[in-house]
Amino acid sequence: MNKDLISTDKKKESIDTFNTTREKIISSDRRFSEKNDHLLFENIDLYDISKKIQTPFYLYSELEIIRNITEIKEAFKNYPNTKIFYASKACSLIKILEIVKDNEIFAEANSIYEIMKCIKSGFKGSEIIFNGVLKKKSDLEYAIKNNIYSINVDSFYELDLIEEITNELQIEANVSIRIEPNVSSPTHPDCVTAYHAKAGIDLKDAELMCKKIINMPYVNLKGLHIHIGDQIPIIDPFSKAVKVIIDEAKRLENSLNIKFKSINLGGGIPVPYKYGQGNPLKDYLYTSLNSSDFANIIIDEVLKWRDDIEICIEPGRKIVSSAAVLLTTIYSEKIKTNYDDKFNILDIVNWKFIDAGYSILSDSLHFNWFFYLFNTKNIKDDYTLLTKIAGPLCDGGDYFHQGVYEEFFLLPKNTSLGDTLAFIDTGAYSIESQTIYNNRPRSAVALITKEGNIELIRREDTFDDIISYDIY
Ligand SMILES: Cc1ncc(COP(=O)(O)O)c(C=O)c1O
Repeated sequence: MNKDLISTDKKKESIDTFNTTREKIISSDRRFSEKNDHLLFENIDLYDISKKIQTPFYLYSELEIIRNITEIKEAFKNYPNTKIFYASKACSLIKILEIVKDNEIFAEANSIYEIMKCIKSGFKGSEIIFNGVLKKKSDLEYAIKNNIYSINVDSFYELDLIEEITNELQIEANVSIRIEPNVSSPTHPDCVTAYHAKAGIDLKDAELMCKKIINMPYVNLKGLHIHIGDQIPIIDPFSKAVKVIIDEAKRLENSLNIKFKSINLGGGIPVPYKYGQGNPLKDYLYTSLNSSDFANIIIDEVLKWRDDIEICIEPGRKIVSSAAVLLTTIYSEKIKTNYDDKFNILDIVNWKFIDAGYSILSDSLHFNWFFYLFNTKNIKDDYTLLTKIAGPLCDGGDYFHQGVYEEFFLLPKNTSLGDTLAFIDTGAYSIESQTIYNNRPRSAVALITKEGNIELIRREDTFDDIISYDIY
């Protein structure tokens, strides 16, 4: 078939699929609905709210966070000896941490300030896990003094520091050993953390590390830890990794005559960014895997071994991703022609410029992520306008690379300046990676409380904030 026809067919298919998804979202997604053509999130009119709070800003739903936590708890309900540690790196706003704490799960941290934020939000040290490939002596000292639930040791160097500190202070520290199970996953390459990865120690070194810990007077060995990566779209890598860690734990228990207290399977539960029947093996933004699938393979495998060991997990994305939308305004538009170097016309491109570039929603550039995008005041009409969506930053790359059809997004034909757009499923790893690049402020964040009220939970940076770090 002729190349142009194939591309016309593909374009038509992408447009149709997107419009079907849009209709499904407003008719059956638990978070969204439609009123007077406007898009509602947890019954809040997104167009109206975007005219009350200055865009760009994120809007979180407390209810959706609670639903997600409940779903994970439910998945593990047949194994009551499970502890859930929310990976605070996914979103560490104090208010969000407080919501997590109120819902009676624990926290995972990857830096000293993350630990401090968790403590400030009400978690006890004994409810926090400390991960990371580089922990300085002062970080470990703080963690140990705060009686952290488990420091997941990532190297012999780190273990030596823990020994030194606990001997000096004569206080106990709980540790687990992060091993690399050597399991690859069809997620984004930068999200793989258990295959040729920097984290964890080799399986063959685990026995030596256990022996060392057993001989340390103040260090308690809790168990083994893995985290195979983020947004793992299929079950196979989890199944393989759970078998590897359990086989190794069994072997170590036998050869060293010890009994581990816990086994930590990390995070990585995926969420769909593209809805429907896509192929997760080819595109990790599609997934149908849920918390029960994740729980079942862990519980089944653990029960073949022991029923008296504690299971720990560290989900991040699954708890907050679906709980936020990013609201942004169209401030400018233009039509530009793409030529080849002999000035033959290749394409005519409609550009819309919004007030949120990759300094506000960075996944779009670094990870080439995809988010559905809707016009908040026109959600019912068919979306037929193919347009590229660009941010305000100086870089040529500051536009959203993954659209509905190639680099193009779809909006309703009558979209105009001043309209506000909503990127959905933006609750994970977004606020955490905002920057003040080009001296543009990091965004505000608002929350729809479970009672349906709106609260500002973070304000936008001011000029004074931005210069407050400079010494002059
Ligand atoms: C050690 C560890 N645990 C848990 C997580 C959370 O992963 P996710 O958000 O995919 O659940 C991460 C994410 O990078 C991690 O590095």
